[in-house]
Amino acid sequence: MTKPRPSVLAAFESAKGFMPLDEGLALYAAAGEAARLGLPLLEVGTYCGRSTILLAEAAREGGTVAVTVDHHRGSEEQQPGWEYHDPSLVDPDPDVARMDTLPVFRRTLFKAGLEDHVIALVGRSPRIAALWGTPLGLVFIDGGHTDEHASADFDGWTPHLAPGGLLVIHDVFPDPADGGQAPYRIYRRALESGAFTELPTTRSLRVLRRSGRQPMAAQPG
Ligand SMILES: C[S@@+](CC[C@H](N)C(=O)[O-])C[C@H]1O[C@@H](n2cnc3c(N)ncnc32)[C@H](O)[C@@H]1O
Repeated sequence: MTKPRPSVLAAFESAKGFMPLDEGLALYAAAGEAARLGLPLLEVGTYCGRSTILLAEAAREGGTVAVTVDHHRGSEEQQPGWEYHDPSLVDPDPDVARMDTLPVFRRTLFKAGLEDHVIALVGRSPRIAALWGTPLGLVFIDGGHTDEHASADFDGWTPHLAPGGLLVIHDVFPDPADGGQAPYRIYRRALESGAFTELPTTRSLRVLRRSGRQPMAAQPG
C-alpha cells in the first residue's frame, strides 16, 4: 500500500474533523484501490475536509477526482448544545449565526495543495444524488448519522456505484454501547442485499465491494 505524501499526512492530522489516523489510512487505501476504476470517488460528509484530503490524494495519484457533498450546516450532533459542537465554526454574521464549515474546508484543502483534485458540492445529499448520473468508483458515507439521513445516503448513492466499486461506511458500531446504530443498519442492509462482499475492517470503518447486483431499495415502514 502506498502512503500519502508527508505533507498530505500532516495536513490531514492538523485538519478539524472526526477521522482517526488508522481509519483515515484505511480509507485512503480503499480510495487508492477504487481509483483504479478511473471513476470519481464520492464522499458524503465533507465537514472541514479532514477525510476529503485523503480521498483527494488517492484521486490525484489515480488520475481521477474526489467529489464531496455537504450542506455545511452541520449534523444534529454538531449543533449548539450538542456533544460535537465547535463554536468557532458558527458564521459570525448575527443575521446568519448558523454552522458554516465551508470556509474552513476550503482553507484546509488549499493548504493541503489538493484543490485541483476535488469538486465540492454544497447542498443536501439526497437532492444531489437525485440529479447524479455518473458511475462512481467509491461511495464513502459519513454524513448525517440518523436513520433518515444514513438511509437516504445509502439509497441515493449506492445505485451509482459501479460493479467492482467500493462502498465505505464510517462509524459502524455493532454494539449500541459504542455509538449510534444508523450507519450499522445501512451496513447490514448492504450485506443482506447480496450486492456487496466485505473487505477487511479498521475499527468503525467498513469497506464493501459491489458485485454486479443492484443494491435493494429501502423497505417501506
Ligand atoms: C461526521 S461529519 C463528516 C466528517 C468528515 N468526513 C471528517 O472526516 O471529518 C458529517 C457531515 O455531514 C453533513 N451532513 C449531514 N447531513 C447531511 C445531508 N443530508 N446532506 C449533506 N450533508 C450532510 C454535516 O453538515 C457534516 O459536515
